Amino acid sequence: MISPRHLFHRVRFTKLILIAILFVLPISVSQASDSAPKQLDISDTDFRCMLDMTPVRGFYVDNLIDGKLEETMAIAKAEQGIYPVGSVVQLVPTEVMVKHPKGFNPATKDWEFFELNVADNGTEIHKRGFVDVVNRFGGNCFACHVKAKPEFDMICETGHGCDPIPLTPQITQLLQKTDARCGSRYTPTAEELELLKKLRASLSADS
Ligand code: HEC
Repeated sequence: MISPRHLFHRVRFTKLILIAILFVLPISVSQASDSAPKQLDISDTDFRCMLDMTPVRGFYVDNLIDGKLEETMAIAKAEQGIYPVGSVVQLVPTEVMVKHPKGFNPATKDWEFFELNVADNGTEIHKRGFVDVVNRFGGNCFACHVKAKPEFDMICETGHGCDPIPLTPQITQLLQKTDARCGSRYTPTAEELELLKKLRASLSADS
């Protein structure tokens, strides 16, 4: 036998569950999907002196969304996994990859490729896009990076499956240290200046 008091409680309980299903759950579901941005607006000012980013092995990382750098760092350190939205990855001052929200561009696994012009007064985006950005060496970013094995999320480093770049680790480090946006934090030696001069001369004047 259910006493009237029990029945009252039961009805009240059922009502509460109904209210939760109708009102509370939809709110939390919509909040969950809102926590990841639907779109990232990326402009010149989102890029900065490479040396102020966080170094991981030979490259540098950042995240354009406040509080998300730790998540980017975790993947970069693990050397595998899917980078979180907002991740910025750079090896040299003029080439960057930025991660858009999931599903934004399935072909590039949501990475956008950028080629930048950098100067002491800041950054200018020279080229940007997904599968069709070509760098100063005449190479298509996507065509190389897509060769990285799936577990590396298009990050090439060495041994991930990409075709090699024509830069030695010595030169990439020198390019990082002499990023024009970093002020004169590093003074290159005469030999290094010569290396930089040769590199500039080997690049086509306007690509
Ligand atoms: C010839 C193939 C090739 C092309 C073209 C190319 N990359 Fe890469 N990229 C590589 C390789 C290989 C590395 C790793 C080099 C190393 O760590 O020594 C690399 C490194 C990078 C990194 C550091 C993270 C990583 O993948 O190791 C970024 C960011 C990057 N490239 C962006 C670009 C962008 C942007 C473009 C076009 C503007 C571009 N790359 C064009 C092959 C290429």
